[in-house]
Amino acid sequence: MYDQPMLRDNALKGKTFIVTGGGTGLGRSMSKYLMELGASVVISSRKLDVLQKTADELQAETGGKALAVACDVRIYEEVEQMLQQAVDAFGQVDGLLNNAAGNFISPTERLSHRAFDTVVDIVLKGSYNCTLALGKYWIEKKISGTVLSITTTYAFTGSGYVVPSACGKAGVIALTRSLAVEWAKYGIRLNAIAPGPFPTEGAWSRLVPPGLEDDLDMKKKVPMGRVGHHQELANLAAYLMSDFSAYVNGEVIVIDGGEWLKGAGEMNVLEKVPDQLWDMMEKMRKK
Ligand code: HXC
Ligand code: NAP
Repeated sequence: MYDQPMLRDNALKGKTFIVTGGGTGLGRSMSKYLMELGASVVISSRKLDVLQKTADELQAETGGKALAVACDVRIYEEVEQMLQQAVDAFGQVDGLLNNAAGNFISPTERLSHRAFDTVVDIVLKGSYNCTLALGKYWIEKKISGTVLSITTTYAFTGSGYVVPSACGKAGVIALTRSLAVEWAKYGIRLNAIAPGPFPTEGAWSRLVPPGLEDDLDMKKKVPMGRVGHHQELANLAAYLMSDFSAYVNGEVIVIDGGEWLKGAGEMNVLEKVPDQLWDMMEKMRKK
């Protein structure tokens, strides 16, 4: 069931969305579903060849419209140009999906300050650049836009070995919650999704050291015993980008099969206690 599309046909007809990092991975999957629901999509990232290929494929697969625009989200002028290209092509932009990210694993003391900047700039600066450009445009044009940002659960907890990413993603949550209140008067909503493990080439090739695939088997960390399916994330994203979620504002929705709570709950380790031991303890208690 969770691998099936959720919203009704044409639920997003007439809408146009910008999806940063839309050429690959989760951005591609979410863009595809937005198009299946009738939206036009501007997919952007640094690599135009990747974007153009994805745009052609998505148009062939969905019959919808996808425009590929090269844009490094770290550079505000490029973000403004992307917005202008989107408006020129589709007349109006209704929503922004801040999905672009950069990440790698490393002991923090081994990082140069430039490495730290690189990740924080893509994740946080990229998100506020796009949000600011779209927000100014929506306020001026009196459009009730919506922003959805993809963050992570370690933005709540922190996490070693991905510290620049954790810092950047935590900032994205602060941006979301702050502007959800400040810009509500303009009819602009901001929400975020914190996904658990969803297989993508971009994330998994960078986050799992070679040879440790079995030890770091992501699904073992998830109480539901599996990784996420791209469609279930796309369903949630489409709902949050749509007017069906008009009263959801400033929310960060976790979709991780219970993964982060499993790591957090102090006594969850008791899952290792076998049934026989529970039986024995029960007998002793009843004696
Ligand atoms: C340490 C590193 C490094 C690494 C790069 N650097 N990779 N340091 N470990 N693995 C350092 C470089 O040495 C350099 O510093 C600085 O970072 C900039 O590196 P560049 O290669 O010039 O940067 P750039 O070409 O802009 O590439 C950005 C990138 C790259 C982040 C390094 O990986 C990228 O393009 N990523 C985009 C896609 C991505 O990361 N997807 C995964 C998202 S997953 P010096 O000092 O040498 O100049 C995600 C999942 C969350 O967020 C949760 C999952 C469960
Ligand atoms: P991905 O395929 O590597 O996606 C990252 C995208 O960001 C790429 O398309 C990349 O394209 C783009 N990008 C990177 N730097 C950019 C820049 N400076 N300007 C514009 N675009 C840039 O990985 P993914 O797994 O689908 O990740 C998508 C989102 O989900 C990210 O926000 C990630 O943090 C989040 N997430 C993923 C998981 C997971 O398990 N997969 C879990 C939690 C959160 P270019 O290289 O062409 O620029």
